[in-house]
Parts: sequence; C-alpha cells; structure tokens
Amino acid sequence: MGGIETVGSREEELVLDVIRKKKIFRYAFNDKEVVDSYVYRFEKMFREFIGAGYSLAVSSGTAALRTALAALGIKAGDEIIVPAYTFVAIVPAYTFVATLEAVIESGARPVLVEIDDSFNINPAQIERAITTKTRAIMPVHMMGSAAAMDEIQAIAKKHNLFVVEDACQGIGAKYRGKLTGTLGHISAFSFDSAKLLTCSEGGMIATNDAELYRKSDHFHDHGHVHNLSLPRGKEPKEGGGVNFRLSEILAAFGLAQMERLSGMLESLRRNRASIKNGLKLPSGFTFRRFNDPEDAATFLAILAPNQARADKVKEGLLKSGIIPATLNYWHYQVNQELTGGSYPETEDYISRAIVLEIKVKMEDKQLAQIRLVLNESLAAAA
Ligand SMILES: Cc1ncc(COP(=O)(O)O)c(C=O)c1O
Repeated sequence: MGGIETVGSREEELVLDVIRKKKIFRYAFNDKEVVDSYVYRFEKMFREFIGAGYSLAVSSGTAALRTALAALGIKAGDEIIVPAYTFVAIVPAYTFVATLEAVIESGARPVLVEIDDSFNINPAQIERAITTKTRAIMPVHMMGSAAAMDEIQAIAKKHNLFVVEDACQGIGAKYRGKLTGTLGHISAFSFDSAKLLTCSEGGMIATNDAELYRKSDHFHDHGHVHNLSLPRGKEPKEGGGVNFRLSEILAAFGLAQMERLSGMLESLRRNRASIKNGLKLPSGFTFRRFNDPEDAATFLAILAPNQARADKVKEGLLKSGIIPATLNYWHYQVNQELTGGSYPETEDYISRAIVLEIKVKMEDKQLAQIRLVLNESLAAAA
C-alpha cells in the first residue's frame, strides 16, 4: 500500500542518526532539546500535514484507538458503534479486527452497523443501533476513502455521542476539503508495515481538543504528566495508563516517509486514474461510490451485479497474474466470534467487490496491462 515501496537512503540516514546520537527515548530530551526528538518532529510534521491541533505518536494504530477511547472515558457497559464485519483482504482492505479489539479492550461492547456501496458504515442505519448505553460512533475510513462524515456528525450531535475516526487506512483522504482524522472528536492512524505511511510499526492520535490530547498523552505513558523541565521520576501522575510510546528509531523512519507523503499520494492518484479512466464497465457493474471524490487512491474497487460475475472477473485477473483482494478468513472468523449477529448487506457488498491494490510505483507498461486484462475480464463477465 505504498510506504514500503519507497523505503531508501533517507530512512537509513535518519535511523542511523538516532543510533549514532544514542538518544533513543523521547522523554530523555529536556525542554530545550525536545525540538531534536524524532517523535516530537514526526508528530509536528504529521499534524501540520493533516491540519489538526494536536497529535500524539503511539506504538500502533490499535494503541491509538485504545488510547482515544481511554481519553474519552469509555468504560465497561458502554457501547460503541462500528461498521459491520471487519473483513480484511490479503492486501489490506475493508477493515480490521483491531477496531473491535480496541473497543473490547476498553471494556465496551462493539455494536455493528451494515456498510453501504461506499464500503463505509451506512449512516442511514446508525440511529436504529443507538441505545441508552451508546457513547460513540467509530467510522472507519475504509480503503482510503472517507465515511459519510456530515451524516455521522449530525447523528452524533443529536444523540450527544463522540465521533472517533478510525483513519488507520485513511491517511491523505479528504472530506469536504479537510483531511480525514480532523473531523471527529479524536482519531487514530496506523503506520504498520502495510500502510501508505509506514514506520514498520506505529500509530498517531489526532485531535483539536486540548483536554483529549492531554488525557491521551498521560494514558499512553503510564499516567505521566509530562514536564520536560523536571526529571522523569519527579513528574506528577494522573490516572492509569500503559506503555504505548513510539520509539525514536521508528519515528525517524516515519519522518523520512512523511517527507514524501504528498508525492506518494500524487502517484497513487495518477496511477489509479490511468487504470480507471481506461475501463469500460459492462451494464450492472459500478465503481465503488465515494462520499468525497478526493480519496487516497490506495485501491480501485468495482461492484459486480452478483458474486458469480465478480468471481468471473477475478478469475480472469488471476489467470494473467493480477491478484485481486480476497477475503482473509482469519479476520472474518475472529470478528464473527467477537460479535455474532448477521450482516447480509455487508456480506453482499463484499461478495460482489472486485478490489485491486494501487501501488505508488507503477510503470506505464504495467498500467496498460492491468487496463487490458481488466477490460477483457469485465467483458467476459458481461
Ligand atoms: C481500519 C484499521 N484499524 C486499525 C488498524 C490497526 O493498526 P495497527 O496494525 O497499526 O495496530 C488497522 C490495520 O490494518 C486498520 O486497517
């Protein structure tokens, strides 16, 4: 999904810098030195890129989600609304078991709502899932495309709920001119090895709310009330917490990736447009609907009229060595065990989906070959 394709000398240079300076712990920097901390610099560059007031680097996207819920005071007995069935493909697609895990780890119960033809949570079905226990809606910006945030925010406002954006797959996606991760009360990003921006492992919390930032900051580091002018052992403690800190080495890696994020997004958009604009969809086939046309372009998704015709297109692709996204049953089964219930609309959309991962680096010849094979496979399934 991008970042890994571009890893090179800049990552090497910045990671080596950490090793050579032997400053591997962000809280070893005092208040005057802090501007040299890679975690600090990564957080700053990230929040300036997405346009958020506050950002906190953490050890994974799962940790970011868990920390966000802790900052909101989510606890046992609460309910959190998430998109139904967190399917995942061999290439990352749909969503992920982590969204549910973070909710369960906080003591709350995930309540699933069906997705729609945007592959994101269907806002028309959210209200009927709200109970007196509901505390938050957690839209996942799936496969680099924004959920229907206007509708979600309106429902949240009406019912006095928090909106926690799972933007782990949504870096660079826009909604009404703003980047995803800046729209709800608090948001989570992932920089794991499969993501567009990768640190190999890592995550980020973003918010415009100073209090939510403060609580996240304490929770992710055992309750430390950070004051870099004091020795660490003399800092006050507030509330409980865990160790979800990001290391300086991984932040240095992430900073190198950050420097080329805009370029990676441009390449993805160009590559996908080159494929998409050259396709002839047979009657009954549609492209995935976007809630905002400025997505991150990490995937090209087509909906077939039924599963048999989707499978036929995928067969054609596979025969030519082009690998479409396929279901990963590990996540499917785990999520079923975690939640139970049945979600026929979600299953229907997923069964009819033909999804291709878009890469940052794609040669003209490769793009032409995908266009050709996809058109032939679509025509064969017409
Ligand atoms: C939608 C979604 N949420 C959460 C996560 C978890 O992120 P991480 O792997 O960094 O813990 C992922 C990772 O794939 C994801 O796709």
